[in-house]
Amino acid sequence: MIPRSVIDEVVRRSDIVQVIGMYVQLKRAGSNWNGLCPFHSEKSPSFTVFPGTDSFYCFGCGAGGDVITFIKKSENLDYVDAVRLLADRAGIEVPDDAGNENRGPSRERIKLMNVAAAKIFHSCLLNDAAAEPARQYLKKREIADATVRHFYLGYAPADFSWLYPRLHAQGFTDEEMTAGFLCGNSNGRVYDYFRGRVIYPIVDTSKNVVAFGGRVLDDSKPKYLNTSDTPAFKKSRNLFALNYARDYCQDYLILCEGYMDVISMHQAGFQNAVATLGTAITEEHARIIAKYTKKVILSYDSDGAGQNATDKAMKLLDGVGVPVRILKMEGAKDPDEYIKKFGKEKFRALIEGSRTGFEFRLESVLSKFPQNDDQNRLRAASELADIISGYGSAVERDLYSSKAASALGIAVEPLREDIEKYRRRRIRQMNNEAGKEAVEVLRNFNDRINPDAARNVRAASAEEAVLGLLLLYPEHRDSVLRGDVKLESEDFFTLLGRKAFDSIMSLHADTEGFSFSLLGEFFTDDEMGRLKSYEVNRTKLSSNGREALLSAARILHEERVKKEQSEPGKNAPSLSDSLLEKRRKLQQKKDGGH
Ligand code: GTP
Ligand code: MN
Repeated sequence: MIPRSVIDEVVRRSDIVQVIGMYVQLKRAGSNWNGLCPFHSEKSPSFTVFPGTDSFYCFGCGAGGDVITFIKKSENLDYVDAVRLLADRAGIEVPDDAGNENRGPSRERIKLMNVAAAKIFHSCLLNDAAAEPARQYLKKREIADATVRHFYLGYAPADFSWLYPRLHAQGFTDEEMTAGFLCGNSNGRVYDYFRGRVIYPIVDTSKNVVAFGGRVLDDSKPKYLNTSDTPAFKKSRNLFALNYARDYCQDYLILCEGYMDVISMHQAGFQNAVATLGTAITEEHARIIAKYTKKVILSYDSDGAGQNATDKAMKLLDGVGVPVRILKMEGAKDPDEYIKKFGKEKFRALIEGSRTGFEFRLESVLSKFPQNDDQNRLRAASELADIISGYGSAVERDLYSSKAASALGIAVEPLREDIEKYRRRRIRQMNNEAGKEAVEVLRNFNDRINPDAARNVRAASAEEAVLGLLLLYPEHRDSVLRGDVKLESEDFFTLLGRKAFDSIMSLHADTEGFSFSLLGEFFTDDEMGRLKSYEVNRTKLSSNGREALLSAARILHEERVKKEQSEPGKNAPSLSDSLLEKRRKLQQKKDGGH
């Protein structure tokens, strides 16, 4: 663990308004600061920074916590690395071995191992006799040597134990190799995961090798293997080649489906191309993209799947306010094939002639319903009216209805009437959905962060009151610690509540005392946000004295008795060992030492 004194120092020296201000444009609002939440898409600011309590909370999505939680979420780091980053920025030394006990292989070791593996694969592709088929394959696909070196491509020979002994010789352990998904483990036998494949290292924007993709040399299945998600790597947050493209995409970014597409494009001089890693584009991808560029050109495969993916990407990018254009490729299935067949100048012309989102949708409707009979024309008109009704701007709706009408050879007025009809229906539907969502939130349904809460709303809200009070006021923690307000972890109905109570009280019992920041090591970012919401909700109330604590504690006791009567003998959910241990220590302290 990182020493407590270092964490305190890091939190004290990191001005939360300044740190968050580097990521979010903040405006002063009384004693607090507001801005657009970086963790969900929104048009009006519900994200608030409270300098008074060194914390933040988003009233829209429930994200919240302290400055460490913010860095964890924004930089996709674990607790220890987030502390390290802040320490670094504040010029504070963190002991080197801190945070490495009992956590499995550290991210540092996995990163080192990935670099070692990338070198082994790369040198194999360049030099080994075993890699001859791979060199032939890449040559056939017109990948130049310079490109192989630029992307640091590699080869893993078709052998179950090829990388393993080499990494082993460099001091990497079985545990590290399996944790990093370079090897699998079958009944204690560790074997290479990538075999007989061209290897594409995936490098993040901080130049760490975070993962690998591997492609077979023939038509066997599966065509690609990718590193699975690890705590250090999430497919939904990484884009292939963004490490290069980030320097070339100020004006626009080209988004495509495949590794090979990206490699071909970069080779042809389009260094602003990236691809998602064997998954469809996610909201997180969209948000990352929005940070780097002003416009996206979608260049997905020309097959049906690619067109559906285009539709999804258009919606997600629209959600984060990034305008899109869509490439229209004819005579080739993907950008890689197009460039090889027609050359890079033709590809450049495609980019220049790329269509807007509406043009893309208009064309796909027109091609779905050939304009040879009235029936088809009616269906196309109705689908287009529906599509156009989804645009928020009246000017856009007006412009697109004229275009659609002239493409279909119909009058524009009736089309506009239909559009308005669809629009009213959309608004009705949206209101219904928003209403349903609000009711579910009220009833705690669908609560992934604290799923037990829905089973006893009375107990759950009393818990929230207790926890909010304990988080805010040291005197309440004292009362509980001294035992003049009787509360113990078994009084808590939900697992989250129980764990929070135990952590708060054991930290408070510690000589160094409670600090919200220390919770970040034991709770997920979502849970931190939830705990922060208990605090924030509490500060809005006027009565936060001893009476409030006693009355919430009373409700918890009543509900506990009810529960024990209804299910006698049923054990309470068990706590993790480390928490039990802390709890025991707390008890000892309460009893006056050993
Ligand atoms: P080439 O056939 O070499 O041109 O590959 P490509 O990059 O054009 O791939 P394709 O269009 O078939 O697929 C697009 C992307 O989806 C690939 O780059 C991979 O990231 C992913 N993908 C394709 N096949 C598989 C598979 O079998 N498994 C996984 N996990 N991902 C795949
Ligand atoms: Mn391809």
